[in-house]
Amino acid sequence: MDMPTVLKKRRKPIIWGCVAAAFAAVLILLHIGSTAVSVNTQTVHLPRLAPADDGLRVMLVSDTHFHGGDAGRAAALAEMVNREDPDLILLLGDFINGSPDPRGSLSMEELTRFVKRLRARCGIFAVTGNHELWYGRDKVVSALRDGGVEVLFNRGVTIGTPSGRKLQLVGISDFTTQAPPEKFPEVDPKLPLLVMMHDPKGALFVPEGLDCFIVAGHTHGGEIRMIPGGSDRTSLRLLMVRIKAKLGQIPDYQRPYALFDRWFTEYRGRKMFITSGVGMSRLRMRLFCPPEIVLLKLRSVPVKNDYVIPEEL
Ligand SMILES: [Fe+2]
Repeated sequence: MDMPTVLKKRRKPIIWGCVAAAFAAVLILLHIGSTAVSVNTQTVHLPRLAPADDGLRVMLVSDTHFHGGDAGRAAALAEMVNREDPDLILLLGDFINGSPDPRGSLSMEELTRFVKRLRARCGIFAVTGNHELWYGRDKVVSALRDGGVEVLFNRGVTIGTPSGRKLQLVGISDFTTQAPPEKFPEVDPKLPLLVMMHDPKGALFVPEGLDCFIVAGHTHGGEIRMIPGGSDRTSLRLLMVRIKAKLGQIPDYQRPYALFDRWFTEYRGRKMFITSGVGMSRLRMRLFCPPEIVLLKLRSVPVKNDYVIPEEL
């Protein structure tokens, strides 16, 4: 029996209403999934760390990509970092957006204000990323220094820990936008060593066999993953890279091109942690890849972590 015409007429707007509501729900979920930053707490063994420093709290903040209207977001993020009571804060680059990114950038005054808010007993250190080059690296570095951050370009520092012992920290320049170090900075083989960099490919400049732990950002964890809970191997970005590689479109300066998974990675024998970071690239969307800050608890005893070896193209 045919449905009365009046009912058919009523059904159409209901169906369209449901479609619009489902669409809006997806957009809201995408927005929350892209902007709700969480604290990712991980534990890692740092060779030669004194038992008295066991549990040292290192906060990794990477790829914030603050744009013009983000002063409030920056203040909230600083508060979130401070709540974790870190001993050491490592800022891994891409603080802002550099041209040709159309979103614009947080002002340098606001960037200084952001880093001035951060609190860490053993200091705040930074390396710069590709967006700093595009924006104007000197301006960003001055803004960071004005806020009390020490920026490390291919050099190391020895810092005091709360127990009165020493920890070495080396910052490597960005793989794709700066000259690589001719020589890895001198380090004391008796002290524990953390190496920080923006692009994980910079691990190539860490001498093979050097007993250290590396931290990096840059990859954003792939941002859009096609499988819920999937690794960054399931990301749209890496699919595009694979297609580019097949077409021979990866420039020589980016070789060797490794498809980095996030988190625990072993790249050519070097152990590292790659954070998927806070912000987003030009697409301004994350899917199944939540933004994060990372609280890395350093242990003086071995810890079992599953290290992924990245595929190289
Ligand atoms: Fe980035």
